[in-house]
Amino acid sequence: MAKRFLICGACGFIGSSFAKHLWLKYPDSEITVVDVLTYAGSLDNLRELHTESRLQFLEADICDVGALPKLEDIQFDLVVNFAAETHVDRSLYYTSEFVRTNVLGTDSLLSFCRKTDSPMLQISTDEVYGPARENETFSEAAPLNPSSPYAASKASADLLVLAAIKTFGQKAAIARTSNNYGPRQFPEKLIPYFMYLARQGKPLPVYGDGKQQRSWLYVDDFCSALLRVVDDFPKGEILNIGAAREYANLEVVRRLTASLECEALVNHVADRPAHDRCYRIDSRKFEQRYGAIDERDLTDGLRQTVAWYQSHPENFDRLRTQDAVSFRDKHYRNRT
Ligand code: NAD
Ligand code: TYD
Repeated sequence: MAKRFLICGACGFIGSSFAKHLWLKYPDSEITVVDVLTYAGSLDNLRELHTESRLQFLEADICDVGALPKLEDIQFDLVVNFAAETHVDRSLYYTSEFVRTNVLGTDSLLSFCRKTDSPMLQISTDEVYGPARENETFSEAAPLNPSSPYAASKASADLLVLAAIKTFGQKAAIARTSNNYGPRQFPEKLIPYFMYLARQGKPLPVYGDGKQQRSWLYVDDFCSALLRVVDDFPKGEILNIGAAREYANLEVVRRLTASLECEALVNHVADRPAHDRCYRIDSRKFEQRYGAIDERDLTDGLRQTVAWYQSHPENFDRLRTQDAVSFRDKHYRNRT
């Protein structure tokens, strides 16, 4: 029988890429997308798919998923939750929106999945572990130690998923990934934002000394890895799926500007409060069960990302919406 998937948050960056991977791997499947289309979501991200009859798009909030008549009683082969508020900088100012979507939304989706007996995969982040010291790597058993309101809301969601597994024996699992990059990321995030500024010859606002380290995984590489769990669902498990090594922000900026073939001026601005110095997760559990994460080199990935944005310049128009402009005016204008 054709598989039925529910993908929440599939109009965003990673969810849209995952929906495309799923679409290709399961050509008979039916995909339902629930997305409320916040500033970060766009139907354009699903452009190739959304006119197809085997994709159903429901513009709705995950907090209301249990009340959607079109979903009533459907048992899905897999529900994947990408829907979230995701920008750490925004979480400093709009904490309650993060709690609402990331915590209450996850709770609502868990209830829906219990009711319909659908397995649920929660997409989470390396940020729930907090900062790693030198030579420290976090396995799935590491304690949760989030620093930002974003990370705290994601950690809270993870705890709800784990509680549902223990309490109700719910068919659920958590995948924690590291910083993804690539096409279709909302251009407020580091890599596309710096591309946007560099194109205009504007200085690049690097927080603090720029030596903070992140592990960058190309979005298609994450989604290819994630696809492997569809037919072998890791019920009750947490799986780290991250890039193998980390790079300092300044090094990412150096490689990015080299790909852009431009000289950009780095402007060191005041650091973000509670800015974690380094994330480092250990993905061996995933790799032992599902095989190695096939990860492209950062320079190659950045070149592909730059090429995509160069051929889709309209993506930067998303920074001109009232919401995006007012966020930057309020919170970025006086960065020094
Ligand atoms: P994104 O911000 O690009 O997209 C989020 C999507 O969720 C958007 O389409 C938005 O409209 C939708 N959404 C937001 N609130 C909603 C709600 N209440 N109901 C329904 N839809 C809603 O996010 P992303 O970068 O694609 O991240 C996807 C997931 O991966 C998130 O859970 C995030 O925490 C996790 N993650 C992301 C990264 C990364 O580097 N991007 C790294 C680790 C983990
Ligand atoms: P970001 O893409 O916001 O992801 P996260 O904070 O979730 O890792 O930022 C990646 C890194 O880039 C992070 O260390 C913060 C830094 N950064 C800057 O230095 N300047 C900026 O303007 C932004 C948006 C991020």
